[in-house]
Amino acid sequence: MKLCVIGTGYVGLVGAAVFADWGNEVVGVDIDEKKIKKIESGEMPIFEPGLEELVLENIKAGRLKFTTKLKEGMKDADIVFICVGTPQGDSGQADLSYVLGVAGEIGKNLQKGRYTVVVTKSTVPVRTNERVKEVIQSVAPKGVKFDVVSNPEFLREGYSIEDMQNTDRTVIGAQTERAKKVIRKLYGHLESPIVETDLRSAEMTKYAANAFLATKISFINEIGQLCEKAGANVQEVARGMGLDKRIGTRFLVAGIGYGGSCFPKDVAALSRTSLDFAYDFSLIRGVMRVNDLQKHSFTSKIYQEFKGEALGGKTFAVLGLAFKENTDDIRESVAIKIIHLLRGRGASLRVFDPEANENARSYLGDVGIHYAKDAYDAMKDADALLVLTEWKEFRELDLQKVKKLLKNPTIFDGRNLLDQAEVEGAGFKYHAVGKRTNAYHGTDVKSALLPK
Ligand SMILES: NC(=O)c1ccc[n+]([C@@H]2O[C@H](COP(=O)([O-])OP(=O)(O)OC[C@H]3O[C@@H](n4cnc5c(N)ncnc54)[C@H](O)[C@@H]3O)[C@@H](O)[C@H]2O)c1
Repeated sequence: MKLCVIGTGYVGLVGAAVFADWGNEVVGVDIDEKKIKKIESGEMPIFEPGLEELVLENIKAGRLKFTTKLKEGMKDADIVFICVGTPQGDSGQADLSYVLGVAGEIGKNLQKGRYTVVVTKSTVPVRTNERVKEVIQSVAPKGVKFDVVSNPEFLREGYSIEDMQNTDRTVIGAQTERAKKVIRKLYGHLESPIVETDLRSAEMTKYAANAFLATKISFINEIGQLCEKAGANVQEVARGMGLDKRIGTRFLVAGIGYGGSCFPKDVAALSRTSLDFAYDFSLIRGVMRVNDLQKHSFTSKIYQEFKGEALGGKTFAVLGLAFKENTDDIRESVAIKIIHLLRGRGASLRVFDPEANENARSYLGDVGIHYAKDAYDAMKDADALLVLTEWKEFRELDLQKVKKLLKNPTIFDGRNLLDQAEVEGAGFKYHAVGKRTNAYHGTDVKSALLPK
């Protein structure tokens, strides 16, 4: 089929490449000229494992093209995908200006005599596709035939190609059988289930899925808080819980809280949607509050260790800037928020991320921050080491080398990434999340009210 993908960011660029790889003719459209030029010259605007090869292969095969001109991109397209951003608005709502703006442009460019399916892949609140349809109808030439479809995307950055090619499920929300048939043709070869539903349920599915995963994270973080106080170990508790198939081990990892370009804004948008429908979704408000507190619980351990509020004269080595491993994305990264908090108290930072140094530099600037060339460079003469993103390479640090480089053998592990026995055995003071360590800060179990 002929496809047009509007927005060549994390979702659109990967989507365009994967659809082309399935044998479709795909044109990726973006308003950002620099981005399109970069992609055309073979350089990827984002880091995503395997993306460069996939894009180049499909360009070479003549199945994948890019343009800044929507009219050109939409020419003879069977399906037009909307993959533009839906950032968080001022009062928590999803900002739909990009989606609805694109809808208007699509409307103007629909061709008479062709049936086109307009698919929203961007994460949008319930009833948005109905607005998309209205906007298109209001500007489209009389008599054009089109349908709107909600087809939310569930990929994870860092694993997005694999996730798109091997998705757990495909959700298709549509109003007509004709539209469903076209989308089924695109995804029909996948082995996983296709959930066919109405527009509103498809839109809600995406928010419900993200909010549920965020709830799992906040839940285990609260269990972690309690474990820390009561002298239990959240990693062992999570394993014991997660092996129950009804629960599952994934997203049951205590840490510094969730971040990224999706969970914070999607959870906030769902909360906002509930208010719009006069429903008090109290659980989701709790999820957000716990997440917000989690980073403060981590930094308070640093303040306690360094006795006092001001950190002037202290230098911290930070490993990890991206919101998670395997990506260069720093949007809503908790690591960046922690750096802000520490810098705000006068600390200097020596930071390193395998992929996100440049993005972090353009966001945080250079004041008080040295962008190190590797993990060990970040540690030189630092007062302590902070591990904030779960990159695999940070798991494999040479602890003797780390000890020589740091001023004090002190580690704050915000992801419980390191092996506690090894770290403590190597003579470090080890602060972790939700478990007793040799730097334990929790309530003394003996002084707590024990059951009789
Ligand atoms: N990033 C993820 O992991 C992920 C996963 C699932 C769903 N989503 C959702 O997918 C959507 C896109 O997310 P993303 O991370 O790919 O965003 P992104 O910011 O990386 O990409 C959006 C792209 O849209 C382009 N754009 C904006 N206005 C345009 C216009 N009028 N015409 C053409 N291009 C335009 C921007 O230049 C940018 O390249 C969001 O709604 C997001 O919530 C994201």
